[in-house]
Amino acid sequence: MDANTIRQKFLDFQVKKGHKVIQPAPLVLEGDPTTLFTGSGMQPLLPFLLGKEHPDGKRLCDAQPSMRLQDIEDVGDSRHTTVFEMLGNWSLGDYFKKEQIENFFEFLTSVVGLDPNKIYVTCFIGDEKYGIPKDTEAAEIWQEVFKKAGVEAKIAEIGSAENGNKRGIKPGERIFFYDDHENWWSRGGGIDSTPLGDPCGPDSEVFYDFGEDKQDVEKYGLAHPASDGARFMEIGNQVFMQYRRLPDGTFEELTKKNVDFGGGLERIAAAAIGSFDVFKISLMKPIIEKLEGISGKSYDNNTDEMRVIADHIRGAYLLAAQGLIPSNKTQGYAMRRLIRRAILRALDLGISSNFLSEIVPVVAKNYQDLPDSILTHRETALDVLLKEENAFRKTLNRGLKELKKMARNLPEPVFSGHAQGRSAKPMVPKKQGSDSRDPSPEKLCPRLSGRDLFKLQDTYGFPLELSVEECYREGIELTPDYKKEFDAALTEQRERSQTASKGMFKGGLEDHGEQTIKYHTATHLLLAALQKIISPDIVQKGSNTTSERTRFDFNCDHKLTPEEITAVEDQVNKWIADDLPVVFDEYEKEYARNTLKAHGQFWNKYPDILKVYTIGDFKNPISREVCGGPHVEHTGVIGHFKIKKEESSAAGVRRIKAVLE
Ligand code: ALA
Repeated sequence: MDANTIRQKFLDFQVKKGHKVIQPAPLVLEGDPTTLFTGSGMQPLLPFLLGKEHPDGKRLCDAQPSMRLQDIEDVGDSRHTTVFEMLGNWSLGDYFKKEQIENFFEFLTSVVGLDPNKIYVTCFIGDEKYGIPKDTEAAEIWQEVFKKAGVEAKIAEIGSAENGNKRGIKPGERIFFYDDHENWWSRGGGIDSTPLGDPCGPDSEVFYDFGEDKQDVEKYGLAHPASDGARFMEIGNQVFMQYRRLPDGTFEELTKKNVDFGGGLERIAAAAIGSFDVFKISLMKPIIEKLEGISGKSYDNNTDEMRVIADHIRGAYLLAAQGLIPSNKTQGYAMRRLIRRAILRALDLGISSNFLSEIVPVVAKNYQDLPDSILTHRETALDVLLKEENAFRKTLNRGLKELKKMARNLPEPVFSGHAQGRSAKPMVPKKQGSDSRDPSPEKLCPRLSGRDLFKLQDTYGFPLELSVEECYREGIELTPDYKKEFDAALTEQRERSQTASKGMFKGGLEDHGEQTIKYHTATHLLLAALQKIISPDIVQKGSNTTSERTRFDFNCDHKLTPEEITAVEDQVNKWIADDLPVVFDEYEKEYARNTLKAHGQFWNKYPDILKVYTIGDFKNPISREVCGGPHVEHTGVIGHFKIKKEESSAAGVRRIKAVLE
């Protein structure tokens, strides 16, 4: 059964079970600032999951095109894609666990025809801290369902995935209890990260077993449903939305309980053809075959590249077919990145001229079953993508020209041995770790440095990887430390824009020693604590961080009382004890400011793309600031925070000096 058939059969099946098919939302979801793209079927339905009445009733279903750019670095393995379709069905205060579990099992085994012996499931083990019980109800329903199908289904208490990696599966086990990292669903992730006000609950996930031989035990540990590795693949998630998180952080049981089911169409289609590789399904295979044809190379030997290209062009097509245009802003920028990444990876396959005109029609054909009401701009999609490809090609060519010019302008090489012409031997730099000896006389060769390559990227948009590759191809030598030099130039540039144009760290960080970095992160926590405890209107007026202390100026109309100082210290130390993650990414300025609500002082001076550091849960951060970094990765390493001095610095500005002990 191919993917288009499975999509249709799913909707038909759900209609038979009393559901109404609803129109999926566009990938670019208007009015939802929390994500760039629609990432699941439930996202557009949030108001209804929170109690609003849906005009189509209490039983709904759809196939929602979804995009999760956070998975972009994982694309290249056998199962991750940035874009996918989520088959969804919902009960809005109607049926609950029993009907859901029975229906999905029936769909998988009777409609798609999966072997029930290859289906494994997981349930929530409960959480003592919040008083949420173990979901024995779901586990017992599963036992019944498997029993009826004549399949042995013992229950196993796994707890954490790490434990599972060591323990594996014992004979007969089929139903597995895991903790909140695996089996709690909220828009924020694990139970502690559940956004306040959001519906959430335990979930029960369904996995397909592709066979023991697929598990790379050395790399991923023993196989169990939630392990990494290729033996098991999640093909559906049934969320039992029975709680809502209250403003005080506790969980309230809902009187009207919902079911939110989501299953990846591509993954179910992969299970249907018994392939652990989703790039073998009907929506993907023709793209891969076309790539093989254009490049003259095989998928087996160029798997990663072809997966990335196929995935990214598929994503870019769906965005274009919904009317999005590449740009330097938010979603348009993400779309541009997908196209550019695909073009760059195609270079690795030796495809160096325009090829989207051949690939995009193949993608479009795969989606001919989707109605015009979903792909509203399918007629113009190809044009939009070709235009972008042309523009990027121009950028690349200009960069190439500059690279060659730079190389030509290097002084002639000097040889320490007998004279030899430049063309006597191509000056191909040796790859690191190569121990082959060069019998020719030692060349004192002028080289391009990492700083030169940085200039190419910065001024001409010509990426580092391409420069390096082109240098190998053209026999242009690079300094041995070109990568370090490049990184240093990048860091310097970021800091220049931080210090010069933003004046955020007056005098900058004195050094990048470990201790200074800890102080730097502590300074972000200090600002967040001041905003929380003293006043949300507090902003940074100046800061200076050394390896011995942080000095921080902020607006405040009074001298802090000893109680306030202690409260601020305690707050910072609590966040340190919580060992919160510190992450960063680059964003378009407008997005960082208005959507992410990052703290920044000099918005009119910032560059268009800037770096934002977030501490704590990404959706509900403790701190989010425009900043060049660097920072620690986890607050736990910072140490004990102590305020040594609080004094006036200027009219209406206070200064704190604090140390780490
Ligand atoms: N909303 C659920 C998920 O994304 C189904 O997994």
